Amino acid sequence: MPSKEHRDNLQKLFTRDKHGVVVLRGASILHRYGTDYEFPFRQESNFWYLTGVDEPDYEMVLNLGNGNFHLIAPDRDSDFAVWNGRIVPPAEIRERYQPDHLHIGQEMEEVLREIDPDVIYTVPSDLADELEDDLPDHTIDTESLTDALAWCRAIKNEDELGRLRHAAEINNQAHLEVLQNLRPGLYEYECKALFEYHQIRNGLVQDAYNGIHASGPNSAILHYTGTNRKLRNGDLYLIDAGHEYLGYASDFSRTWPVNGRYTDWQKVICEIVLEAQKAAIREATPGTRMEELHLLSAKIITDGLLDAGLLRGNRKELMEKDLFALFFPHGLGHFLGLDTHDVGGYPKGVTRIDRPGLRHLRVRRELEPGMVITVEPGIYFIPALLLPALDNPEKAPYLNRERIERLLDFGGIRIEDNLIITEQSPENLTRLPKEITDIEEVMSRS
Ligand code: GLY
Ligand code: MN
Ligand code: MN
Repeated sequence: MPSKEHRDNLQKLFTRDKHGVVVLRGASILHRYGTDYEFPFRQESNFWYLTGVDEPDYEMVLNLGNGNFHLIAPDRDSDFAVWNGRIVPPAEIRERYQPDHLHIGQEMEEVLREIDPDVIYTVPSDLADELEDDLPDHTIDTESLTDALAWCRAIKNEDELGRLRHAAEINNQAHLEVLQNLRPGLYEYECKALFEYHQIRNGLVQDAYNGIHASGPNSAILHYTGTNRKLRNGDLYLIDAGHEYLGYASDFSRTWPVNGRYTDWQKVICEIVLEAQKAAIREATPGTRMEELHLLSAKIITDGLLDAGLLRGNRKELMEKDLFALFFPHGLGHFLGLDTHDVGGYPKGVTRIDRPGLRHLRVRRELEPGMVITVEPGIYFIPALLLPALDNPEKAPYLNRERIERLLDFGGIRIEDNLIITEQSPENLTRLPKEITDIEEVMSRS
């Protein structure tokens, strides 16, 4: 890991305050319910961001008074070497992470007593609870650091953008492999296996989130994680998946026709989602607010559903009554980085908009160059939302019952790209076919 980059990250945090210390604990290995089953190690994102340490059981202190970075490394015994592997010697730890002070096996409390800071900034955690018990004579602030880290992480540096581009590059390949092999008779888990094979063979062993491989009506389940259904002729197959590269995520969605040809209704819905997505991408430039993009997509979806005869009434009234959220119930997108739903979307004081759909939006701020976002509108036929609406006297007059009832097992369509915001048009990291003719053309060749 290039430590200069992490030194810069520490420095970025440091510019916000000139006193006190920042204290964080890195992740440890987790086991399944007290058994020997080990989950793959994944460093906690803030710790990774500030230190570059991708190993378990480390802690850090940044002295904001003099800029000194203290790293506390675990004191490994020979048992560790037997079961887990080589013990990294201190000189190598120094070389890798370049701390100003390396403390092997020292208690955090001791390190802090030596520095004796006037305030300790940390995040709510077991460590914060321990410090409150061990250092009752010190001020411990568990609020400010979360906000400060989110502020730093929201704008990506060139190294981070490079990792995001690489994660996207491999994700483009893996999605394309699935598209080229899609056919009726496959099981969802076979699509998942093929997708993961192409990630892992390229070294991206860690999924960025629970991938979604959803066919037929399952494609209307927003976070579907089952994978047992057999893909049928005429189904849609919604894939929403990505792996991470050195911690940085990729998160694409596409919705393909399993047999290579969209049905008429699938085409109609796909075109609406595509138009909503392309319009939002065009407007994703510095100064635009994410909620404006969400509402722009929502208007296009409302118009499209009106034209398709699924909604009734005039667009203004339908928008005022948030009818779009019955079909598009999630947020338009989110920040992407060390976490798939990355931090920084709601700076201190900014609250959620309490409207259906919009309240799930994960970012409410003006876009700036260096931010990385997803744009992922969708239209879904979710019986749990539509059936009560059809029986609701406030909503039913705007809904075409007969058409909607016929589409209750349609599933859903989501199209999701990853964008780097620049001074001009965004850089789109997703290079997968999304026009109907392009998708059908690729599938006809496979
Ligand atoms: N499936 C997670 C997301 O797209 O946000
Ligand atoms: Mn996604
Ligand atoms: Mn997403």
